[in-house]
Amino acid sequence: MRPAIDLLNRVDLSVPSIIYDLGCGAGHITRRLASRWPAARVTGIDASPVMLAEARREPSTITWIDADIDEWEPEEPADLIFSNAALHWLDGHETLLPRLLTYLRPGGVLATQMPRNHGEPSHTSIYDAIEAGPWRDRLLPLLRLHPVAPPEVYAQMLLPLAGSVDIWETVYLHNLPGDNPVVEWTSGTGLRPVLQSLRGQERHDFLSDYAARVARAYPPRPDGLTLFPFRRLFVVVTR
Ligand SMILES: C[S@@+](CC[C@H](N)C(=O)[O-])C[C@H]1O[C@@H](n2cnc3c(N)ncnc32)[C@H](O)[C@@H]1O
Repeated sequence: MRPAIDLLNRVDLSVPSIIYDLGCGAGHITRRLASRWPAARVTGIDASPVMLAEARREPSTITWIDADIDEWEPEEPADLIFSNAALHWLDGHETLLPRLLTYLRPGGVLATQMPRNHGEPSHTSIYDAIEAGPWRDRLLPLLRLHPVAPPEVYAQMLLPLAGSVDIWETVYLHNLPGDNPVVEWTSGTGLRPVLQSLRGQERHDFLSDYAARVARAYPPRPDGLTLFPFRRLFVVVTR
């Protein structure tokens, strides 16, 4: 939750009335938005029916919509478009972000946080393990090597379009328990599309190779915990 809350803390709106949460997942952050601004009409959007079913389980005043962010348009201009840890799954940020800005009222805010750890061993080891095996040609097309650009690219893109642009990065230093815990971390995120396309012995061989690379890059400390620095990019734009 912490990156989402760090992002939310930088949104300087007193009484927004229309709020959209793009890639809302199970709605944990959407509910935070609704409780910070109880008078606002809050809508969560996600393309996963499983996530939306989870979000709908707890009764609330929030509207949940099943839609792809790439095709979504708001019913009315937004005071806030919020998106935590979702837009990195979409390509074409140079058109996506300017398009989202057009959905804001003047003075409205687009606030997004995206993981940007793709240049670190947790993620480059995925590429290296793919390159090293017989699965190379099949798996390489699944990789999205640089889904999130450096901060200055977003600044150049958004400064001509907005009244105020606030962009920063934070490296969160996770201290993880368990054996080779970075593998478990990426298995739930960046490694997923690759693992989903592997079966049986091949899946086992790929994971062993990847895990060995990750273990070398992130050795455990004497207390058994593993330090895992993780970089995230934040963009807060006021139209
Ligand atoms: C890591 S989760 C983040 C969930 C939530 N924002 C949070 O911070 O707890 C990413 C979410 O983005 C959704 N997502 C990814 N690509 C999407 C797309 N093109 N359109 C809509 N939702 C998408 C996924 O279904 C998933 O629920």
